[in-house]
Amino acid sequence: MTGFVPGGTLEEIQRRVSIVDLVSTYVRLKKQGRNYIGLCPFHAEKTPSFSVSPEKGLFHCFGCGAGGNVFTFLMRVEGLDFRSAVERLAEKVGVSLASSSEAPRRDRRNRAYELHGIAAEYFVAALRGAEGALARAYLEHRGISAETAACFGLGFCPAGSGLQQALASHGVPVAEATRWGLLGKRQGGGTYARFGGRLVFPIRNASGRIVGFAGRALGQQSPKYVNSPESEIFRKGELLFGLFEARHAIQSTRRVLVVEGYLDVLVLVQAGIQEVVATMGTAITQTQLETLRRVAEEVFVCFDGDDAGRRAAERAFVVGAKVGVWTRGVFLPAGEDPDSFVRAAGIRAMENAMEKAVPLADFYFERKAPPPGASLPWKARAAREVGQVLAQVGDPVMARLLTQRAATLLGVEEHLLRSVAVAQNAPTAASKPELEETWALPEEKMLLAAMAVNRQVAQRVARELADSPLVSKDVAEVARRIGVAWQAASEPTAFIAELPEEVQATVSAYELGRGPLAGVDVLQVAGDCLAKLRRRQARTRLEQLRKELQAAGNEGDQSKIAELERQVRELRQILGT
Ligand code: UTP
Ligand code: MN
Repeated sequence: MTGFVPGGTLEEIQRRVSIVDLVSTYVRLKKQGRNYIGLCPFHAEKTPSFSVSPEKGLFHCFGCGAGGNVFTFLMRVEGLDFRSAVERLAEKVGVSLASSSEAPRRDRRNRAYELHGIAAEYFVAALRGAEGALARAYLEHRGISAETAACFGLGFCPAGSGLQQALASHGVPVAEATRWGLLGKRQGGGTYARFGGRLVFPIRNASGRIVGFAGRALGQQSPKYVNSPESEIFRKGELLFGLFEARHAIQSTRRVLVVEGYLDVLVLVQAGIQEVVATMGTAITQTQLETLRRVAEEVFVCFDGDDAGRRAAERAFVVGAKVGVWTRGVFLPAGEDPDSFVRAAGIRAMENAMEKAVPLADFYFERKAPPPGASLPWKARAAREVGQVLAQVGDPVMARLLTQRAATLLGVEEHLLRSVAVAQNAPTAASKPELEETWALPEEKMLLAAMAVNRQVAQRVARELADSPLVSKDVAEVARRIGVAWQAASEPTAFIAELPEEVQATVSAYELGRGPLAGVDVLQVAGDCLAKLRRRQARTRLEQLRKELQAAGNEGDQSKIAELERQVRELRQILGT
């Protein structure tokens, strides 16, 4: 989650930016009453359900639920993080963002971006020069044209001290370059170029800043790739190679294909599929999927058709399900990657494979389905495993649909799958870390939305939640921030962009008179959510007591048993069971 910018500054920016002007650069808007309507840029539609309110400074799509203020809009349409969206609009309307407590960190980052930019220029020049002959030959051997290489800013890193000198001539101290991993320290003193002798791929973040590099060996040397080290600007689990370069293609096709290799991206783009990005040598993460959902309507993930590829696809489904990103799997013949596949079968074959892509949900359920005539324990195991995954789907409608689908494909009854979901609500040791990966439960999100639309609710709930283990740490932190934000704001529109995405959608819908909180008693909704959370906590505690009871039983500790039984009765009363 992003750091809060002072509320006053945000309000100032919002006062100066016209949301209608901003949206109009991306969407053709038509006036309708007090609002403007148009075709939603975030999902495909033929009749406009995208609405902009100049009075409230908000947009909301009644088709896909996207909503928020000027910051949210820019974040989604350009695929930026909150910070960058604020910076861009601040610059546009001449508001200064200086003097925040984030300033030193921001300066450090800006210096890092600059340093990476200088290095990238040096690499590009080296690729063009005499030293780059081998690397150019390698690119040719891999079928990558000079245009494609230029498009992605590919370069070459000579092995000597050239990089250090180039950085020095721009006033970059050696310590800075070693800190971000461009130079390494030699044991006997002196430095070496980390990517020396390698073809260099600059890695950009979603805003287009170069934050790191990957260097590929020009032959069979090991390791094949060397990457920049993890740092505050280079997080492999959050970055996607090619995302910045693909942004326009993604916007116009509304889809994105995720592949595994840097080279696969180059080959596909060159062959004509431009809406493509690569993970950074790790399995796909929640953050990456959430980023892609922000910019594309359909997310395709490419897998090797071998067994490891199928296991990766299974995992991708589970990761996506937790955050509500529903992807499709493109399965290549075993042992092929997009590069080799396109070279062997042509780009049409790749297009066909994408057309035939299966929803990973179906793929997953089919893979988990026991064969006809399987034993009962086998069926039970499958139902339990799938039920546990379904229990983590936040969106209740989607959960329902998937459960139906899973029931059909697995040949078990829906209520069985759902009963796993209920038991699952009380976290068990094995499933807890997985549960913690979703940031909030549906009732927690609703509670936050209620706080964000109503100052009174915010105050009461903030009091109730202070030091209470009722909600997760993340949720408590957002709740606290909403409480603080209300002290400076008169409308939720002032801080809406800083709320988690799903909460924003509920808030913007509410402000436009729609959504689950419109026309209902928000205070009561908040009360219901709290009650639900209390019951949930009681169930968790009950589960724990049962284990303690068992242990006490084994030890024959009578007084402990009596005490635990009393607590169980108390909780049962709360739960009404
Ligand atoms: P691959 O080994 O499949 O390589 O690794 P590739 O992308 O197909 O590259 P070519 O075609 O052999 O040149 C897939 C991805 O895994 C990461 C990189 O992100 C790579 O693109 N990787 C691989 C590393 O980070 N380090 C390595 O040593 C190897
Ligand atoms: Mn390859």
